[in-house]
Amino acid sequence: MHGFNYREPEIPRGRFNDPGRFGRMFPWLRSLKSFDPGPDKLGEPTRADGSPGPMNGGSGFDPTQDNPRIKAGYTFLGQFVDHDLTLDTTSILERQVDVDGTTNFRTPALELDSVYGLGPSVQPYLYVDGKPGPLLLSEDGEDLQRNRQGRAIIGDPRNDENSLISQLHLLFIKFHNKVYETEFPDVPAGKSRFEATQTFVRWHYQWLVMNEFLPRLVGTNLTAATLAAPPFLFESEHAYMPVEFSVAAYRFGHSQVRPGYALGAGAAPGGPPRVAVLFPNIPDAPDSVGDLRGFRPVPAQLRVNWGFFFGPSAQASKFIDTRISGPLLTLPTNIVPKDDPLRQRSLASRNLQRGIDMRLPSGQALAAHLGIPVMSEAETWTNTVGPALGQVGSGQAPLWYYCLREAEVRAAGNRLAGVGAEIVARTFVALMLKDKASYLVQEPGFVPKLGSGGRFTMTDLVNYTLGSGLASENLLTLPGDDAPSA
Ligand code: HEM
Repeated sequence: MHGFNYREPEIPRGRFNDPGRFGRMFPWLRSLKSFDPGPDKLGEPTRADGSPGPMNGGSGFDPTQDNPRIKAGYTFLGQFVDHDLTLDTTSILERQVDVDGTTNFRTPALELDSVYGLGPSVQPYLYVDGKPGPLLLSEDGEDLQRNRQGRAIIGDPRNDENSLISQLHLLFIKFHNKVYETEFPDVPAGKSRFEATQTFVRWHYQWLVMNEFLPRLVGTNLTAATLAAPPFLFESEHAYMPVEFSVAAYRFGHSQVRPGYALGAGAAPGGPPRVAVLFPNIPDAPDSVGDLRGFRPVPAQLRVNWGFFFGPSAQASKFIDTRISGPLLTLPTNIVPKDDPLRQRSLASRNLQRGIDMRLPSGQALAAHLGIPVMSEAETWTNTVGPALGQVGSGQAPLWYYCLREAEVRAAGNRLAGVGAEIVARTFVALMLKDKASYLVQEPGFVPKLGSGGRFTMTDLVNYTLGSGLASENLLTLPGDDAPSA
């Protein structure tokens, strides 16, 4: 149900944003109707001869795929941000897709409505005593609140899709609760304590997305240039979700996911860490504490130490490239229902098919349009690393795949580059500028109160919320930046 087959009776409304709709950033470009070798073949986990599919990055732990610029926690922050921005109600492969008729039920703004839901008056069960104030957790405070079947009761059910994103959601709930308890002992004039907390939390979150997360993904230079002179703004009354972003460029995150993670220290001091695979090999394997499948209470063995995910000594995310970790090519049955044909278990094939259905342009067409050097046929289609070497396709490439290959060819897999970086940077900046409640509109000179030296990062959020002592990273000294001085 993650991202499809999903309908809610109530439409979340932001304070200032009506529910958005999907739309296009480049409506005048011709769509790519088909490509060689097609979504099924390019995204298949295994070829007919038993060899790995063209995008299969393998299922074992591979240190050669460590991205030195982006730690593992940012993968799940990326997924969390995605859910804050998008909620696609179309069911892939089953419906005729009409972009203009596809409602995006999630307001396209960085406003944490995935955490706050529709607010205490409409969804009181998210809040302690059903009132504006702290959000509810599980009884022991170490998990999300859940119903008797183990499903999380939260603003966006997708934030329970794996137990890392559910724990990140929990971290944001605790962040809100801590701010509510500590930052506003006196009710500020003209606002309730709850409203003041929400604005404080939202602006700190927005600040870190725009000043830490986005520069990590696209480079500090492109972020600054896009903010200084935004090349794309929503001319419509309301912001909408550009399909070039949600169906292609921003799905880059699927390639950052690793087949498994170290979660925290192991039982023996100095011994190996606690580890878990993302999903089991068998899609409908019975519940286990050895994998990170979601939609169930998080077992104690799977609780994370955020120092393994954020900060200088955290494990790395996987390179952004055209290799997708094995578990994502055979999605478990709690994400893709059991009776789906096998090919639909491949997230790569799903993304590629969705791109065709949504009539996206090819990567080459978009690069040419933006004046970005177009990658050659060999750059676009030849696997030089990974298990499936050699030419894996030809001609015009689907946008999602092209963005991944650009990251690999132009930025050594450290970050997005070219078309992918442009779409992501333009979308974030345009959404922030269209949101009348964002700090960029209300108070462009906003300096975070939390953090240090006027900066607020994910490590600061963890330290403040949980009392940890994680060190920070200096973005400008990280490998792969696009700043001239780096
Ligand atoms: C364990 C990790 C993840 C899993 C299992 C997962 C799974 C999925 C699935 C099944 C879909 C729907 C595919 C379709 O049929 O169209 C989807 C959509 C999507 N995913 Fe992920 N995803 C993961 C992580 C991420 C990350 C890290 C990002 C970005 C940083 C991301 C961005 C997106 C976007 C933008 C969509 C489209 C959203 C929408 O329109 O509703 N995902 N994902």
